[in-house]
Formats: sequence, structure tokens, C-alpha cells
Amino acid sequence: MKAKLEEIRSASMKAIESVAEAADLEALRIRYLGKKGELTAVLKQMGSLTPEERPAMGQLANEVRARIEGAISEKAALIREAMLEKKLEAEALDVTIPGKKPSLGHKHPMSVVLDEAKDIFIGMGFTIAEGPEVELTEYDFTRLNIPEGHTVRDWQDTFYITEDEKIHLRCQTSPVQVRVMEKTKPPIRIISPGRVYRKDEVDATHSPMFHQIEGLVVDKGVTMGDLKGTLNALVEKLYGAGTKTRFRPHHFPFTEPSCEVDMQCFACGGAGCRVCKGEGWIELLGAGMVHPKVLEGCGIDPEVYSGFAFGIGVERMTMRRFNIPDLRLIYENDVSFLGQF
Ligand code: DAH
Repeated sequence: MKAKLEEIRSASMKAIESVAEAADLEALRIRYLGKKGELTAVLKQMGSLTPEERPAMGQLANEVRARIEGAISEKAALIREAMLEKKLEAEALDVTIPGKKPSLGHKHPMSVVLDEAKDIFIGMGFTIAEGPEVELTEYDFTRLNIPEGHTVRDWQDTFYITEDEKIHLRCQTSPVQVRVMEKTKPPIRIISPGRVYRKDEVDATHSPMFHQIEGLVVDKGVTMGDLKGTLNALVEKLYGAGTKTRFRPHHFPFTEPSCEVDMQCFACGGAGCRVCKGEGWIELLGAGMVHPKVLEGCGIDPEVYSGFAFGIGVERMTMRRFNIPDLRLIYENDVSFLGQF
């Protein structure tokens, strides 16, 4: 038995010494110290010894067990240390490598133009008003002097929300004029940018949703001259000093007189080219002097006050500004397209 114990001791020491993985070490522990292990098997034979032999053998067996246990725990500590070192090495940071630049986004071309226009108007003393996109028909049509049955209501091809046609998606930003005038006493000087909706098929120049900027000025003695001065200032700031405007007579139910305003073609300077289809002029917006009926309907005395109003299409301005040939490009959110601006 003594020889067997000595053999176990030396064999186990060698085996433990040569192990490098925690799993292999555990296998050795089971092999020697486990319930069915080699040392356990020897201990089970203790009963067959004479009482004289037993104490010395018992002591030796305990010594061997203690040696093996000690060797295993020493080895376990070494393996843990080695693993930690490996892990630290793998996770080492090279702080001298240059950082990765985060890719930053930028303003959408529509926002660029909108923000520029806002800045220009704010510079002229305007404030910004907001109105709902889901609008009462009363505000979008009736109080803008567009009575029931008026062809404009068909022409504008409206997205109605209720069957009684009392609520719809606004087809212009003009109802904000009414909302502002019924709440505010003149002097009034506001612009109101926002989305508008019309049942148009999508193509290179149409979308069922687009953006307008409404403008409204009401005060004593406001004239068409003020309208002209304001719009000239806008075009010169947006498209360069000396850009001219042209006012053509037109009809809008909520202005009298009404006009359409063109600007001199920014591409050819008025000579006629592809951009302006040979005209030399490009249509810019609708405008006019606020109709006395509209003022009166909002509790503003047209004998005392007068005002001008205008409505600009933001998509059109943006396409012109950045030479974008197709309206759909503005909405497709194609980053390789938008990245250019
Ligand atoms: N609301 C008109 C449209 O959508 C544009 C417009 C014309 C607005 C004349 C006005 C205006 O304020 O006075 O076509």
C-alpha cells in the first residue's frame, strides 16, 4: 500500500505540473481525489490493514492527499493568472491610433432655404406664426372669401377629413392669416411656414404634400409698394443683389388687387434659357392686398387698416436655389443625393 501511495504521489505531481488548462486540472482532481479516484480507492482499503499498520499508513495517505490538493490549488492560481494576462493583452488599447471621425449629418436643402427665408423675414421685423395642418374648412375657404360652391374648392382638390366637409387637410397656409388676424390687433407682420396638402399625382413638379410660407402685413397705410419692397428684398437676399421682380395681374379670392410675382431668371439673367423655358422670368409666388371682406371678417376695419399677403412654395424655391431638377429627389431621403448640399 505504501508503494501504491508513493506512486500516486509522484504520478499526480508530474501530471499536475504538466497541465495548462483549468478543465484538464479539474479532470486530474477527479482522477485522484474524486469519489472513484485513485487515492480514494487506496483509502477504502485501509480496513484490511492490521491495527499496527493503520496509523502510519493513514498519515501517509493524508500527506499524499494534502500534497495533491496543495498542488492543484497552486496550479489553479497559476492558470487563473495566465488567463487574466491573456485577456488583458487581448483587450489592450492602443491610445496612439487616430480616432474615427463620427460622420455628421447636415441640414436638408429644404431646411437650408426655409431657415434663410425665416432669417430674412425676421430681419425685416416679422415674427413666425403657426397654424394647424388639419384645418377647418371655414378658415381655409369660407373666411378667405371662397364661398361654398366656388370653383376654387374643386380646383384645390381637397383631402377632406369629415364627410360634412367641415374639416380637411389645409391646401394652403393662407388660413393662418385668419387665425392671426382674429386674435391680434394690427400692426401685424408675420410669416407662417408649413405643410399643405392637395390631391396631386406625384411627378417631377407635384406632390400631394408640399410646403408654403405665408406672409401677412396689416397696418395703417400699407400699400402695394410695401409688398413690392418686401418681396424685392427677399429675392435680392436669396438670389443676389439686383435680381428683379415682375408683378402680373391675377385673381385670388382673398386679395384685391391680386398678382403673381415672377423673378428674373437667375440662370440667364433674363435673356431666356432652358431653366426659364425661354421666358427670362420664373414664377415665384402669389400675392395681393388683403381683401376688405377678409379683414372685416376678422374684426379689422378696412377703412382704417390695409394689408398685403403672399404665399410662396418652398419646394420650388429650394429646387431653384440648388438646381434640383425633380421634386421627388427632395423627399426620397437618399443620403448620396442629400450629401451634396
Ligand atoms: N394661397 C395661395 C396658393 O396656395 C397663394 C397666395 C396667393 C397666398 C395670394 C396669399 C396671397 O397670401 O395673398 O396658391
